[in-house]
Amino acid sequence: MRLTIIGSGYVGLVTGACFAKLGHTVTCVDIDPEKVQKINKGVSPIYEEGLDSLLLTYQDRISATTDYNKAMEQSDITFLCVGTPSLKNGGIDLRYIKESTQQIASTLKNKKNRHLVVVKSTVLPGTTQQIILPLLEQFSGKKVGADIGLAMNPEFLKEGVAIKDFLEPDRIVIGSYDEKSRTTLRELYKTFSCPLVETSLSAAEMIKYASNAFLATKISFINEIGNLCKKLDIDTYDVATGMGFDKRIGRPFLDSGIGWGGSCFPKDIDALLAWAKELKEPARIIESTRQVNADQPLRLVELLKKHVPKLKGKTIGVLGLAFKPNTDDIRDSRAIPIVKELLKHGALVKAYDPQAMENFKKLYPSLTYCSTADEVLTADAVLITTKWNEFSTLKYQGKIVIDGRRLEQAKNAKIYEGVCW
Ligand code: UDX
Repeated sequence: MRLTIIGSGYVGLVTGACFAKLGHTVTCVDIDPEKVQKINKGVSPIYEEGLDSLLLTYQDRISATTDYNKAMEQSDITFLCVGTPSLKNGGIDLRYIKESTQQIASTLKNKKNRHLVVVKSTVLPGTTQQIILPLLEQFSGKKVGADIGLAMNPEFLKEGVAIKDFLEPDRIVIGSYDEKSRTTLRELYKTFSCPLVETSLSAAEMIKYASNAFLATKISFINEIGNLCKKLDIDTYDVATGMGFDKRIGRPFLDSGIGWGGSCFPKDIDALLAWAKELKEPARIIESTRQVNADQPLRLVELLKKHVPKLKGKTIGVLGLAFKPNTDDIRDSRAIPIVKELLKHGALVKAYDPQAMENFKKLYPSLTYCSTADEVLTADAVLITTKWNEFSTLKYQGKIVIDGRRLEQAKNAKIYEGVCW
């Protein structure tokens, strides 16, 4: 099939590159000409394992442009993959969704064949039907369900393993407005062997939010259990193993530590809470999930103070700035509140991250950024905030190490404390 992907960010690019690998012809659209140029050279504008190689290998099937008309001229399906950032009140900012929907609709005005528009961006339940659909009709002068198909097909991609997540998903969710749209997407995904969940537009939107909120809750839950375990001298990881074999629970996302960050969980939880408030519906579990996560990183500093009571003037090492390993993304990284707290106490922070230092420098330009992880170990005490593989090879002997991510090797330290174990 011929596909257009609107938005060459993380989701759009991975989606485009993977569809190209599966044999489809893909045109990506982005407002940033620099990004477009890079994609056309087979270079990824973002860091994601395996993406560069996909773009290069399938260069003949994937291209990019800033021009909607050119991108949609020949295509059958357009995927909407633009960002949905947070507003100040935590609500969802639909500016990019609205702008690109108008552009898509204006382009569809002159198209003869039926065209399917698929929303992949994360949007609150009701958005596709109540905001996107009317805009499509208004700016195209055509009827959704007749000349234009409409579907909602959320993504469940984890940074760092997004390509694998796309190509080997646990499930594919297809919310559709009309039968024809459903059939087209069924055809597009026919080579996938996972379950296909077919729903209404708003159920598909809700599946995405509920999945992320549940995963974040799972982590906050094990962190709360972990805080109790810490007091009782129980190893939370043994508890997680024991729980995880129960098929109703499952072991993934029961790694206790300093909590969740990233581009999705915090933003989606905030949007869900703002929306629940608007609907005047209590969302007590999700509220607590967020609260536990806000407090969790500060526990690491509390544990540090047990061993280094006066932080003023002390050098504290921070190993890991990315929100999780194998990414340079620092959005809502748990290292941020930790560094803030250390600086508040007058500590001198020495930090290292294999990928995320440039991004972190934009937030905190005056920390001491080390060129190797070893250098961080010269600090008076060391905090482990991201579980990068390379931190496993360090010599922790003789050091004070407070671990937020369960790094086995760090247990060789002179003084070792884990946040939940
Ligand atoms: C997440 C969802 O997993 C994905 O389905 C969605 O589409 C986008 O958001 P991502 O943000 O890439 O993906 O990261 P993920 O691997 O889920 O981790 C999120 C955060 O939770 C990280 O900060 C990670 O360190 C933390 N985490 C994860 C834990 O603290 N414990 C765990 O057991 C798992």
